[in-house]
Amino acid sequence: MNDLVSSFLPGVAAGSSATALYARRTAGYEERVTRTVELLREAVQAHGDGLIQSTSLGAEDMVITDLIARHQLPIAIATLDTGKLHDETLGLLGQIRGRYQREVAVFKPAEEQVILFVRNNGEKAMYESLALRKACCSLRKLEPLSRMLAGRTAWITGLRREQSSNRAEVPFSEPDGQGRAKLNVLAEWSWADVWHYIDSNDVPYNPLHDQFMPSIGCAPCTRAIAVGEDFRAGRWWWEDENAKECGLHKAHSNEELTKSGAPA
Ligand code: ADX
Ligand code: SF4
Repeated sequence: MNDLVSSFLPGVAAGSSATALYARRTAGYEERVTRTVELLREAVQAHGDGLIQSTSLGAEDMVITDLIARHQLPIAIATLDTGKLHDETLGLLGQIRGRYQREVAVFKPAEEQVILFVRNNGEKAMYESLALRKACCSLRKLEPLSRMLAGRTAWITGLRREQSSNRAEVPFSEPDGQGRAKLNVLAEWSWADVWHYIDSNDVPYNPLHDQFMPSIGCAPCTRAIAVGEDFRAGRWWWEDENAKECGLHKAHSNEELTKSGAPA
């Protein structure tokens, strides 16, 4: 356990694994798994080659990748490597290859633009202002995302309603504002469900989850959380609650809800 974590969590034993801490089978779990598999199958029917899983390699996305592989679904898998990810996160690419014989396509930011941004603003620009933080996310995530999604009609995410108040209304399917469907196939899963699935199916996961990082993004913008802190408290922790999105997902308002399960 590192110093940061032990100072946050003095009462938690060193070596507590995320599965030991979070996995719990609750009522309706099997139905939620079945529902997700149905949504994935329907998405394949509706979108064929136009479908892609966008994985951050976090716990939720590893569950989805496992379901895709387990049910032999013909769904491409891709990730955005911002150049600022932890080594532990990138290590999962090899684990996915070994475990599932699936290749994850990796999309990186344009090198010259990163060099220019860092030269002009420094390696720690994200801490200086919201505008610079968003510029970094735009450069390292949004531009590669547009290449990842080129030619696709739908993308699968691991967004869940329970993750934050901004995400409390996440539907199973929604327009992404760019003419595609965004399919949030785990929208109704709890954190306990995610870890019960990982535990029962021996799904590989990021070891940083064992160090109290439930939500993992880029290394400079992710820290461990303390007992009682919000799920996403370790993401962009120096910013206001409402600013804490990188632009991959806009906030969900009541008006734009389409809570039917069917993918668009
Ligand atoms: S973020 O907007 O705050 O970064 P979060 O980490 O909660 O998002 O992840 C939500 C979903 O966005 C993930 O389940 C995944 O579908 C997608 N996502 C986030 N980061 C990445 C990434 N680096 N590469 C691909 N997809 C990602
Ligand atoms: Fe840059 Fe942080 Fe956004 Fe990653 S999460 S792209 S390091 S500002």
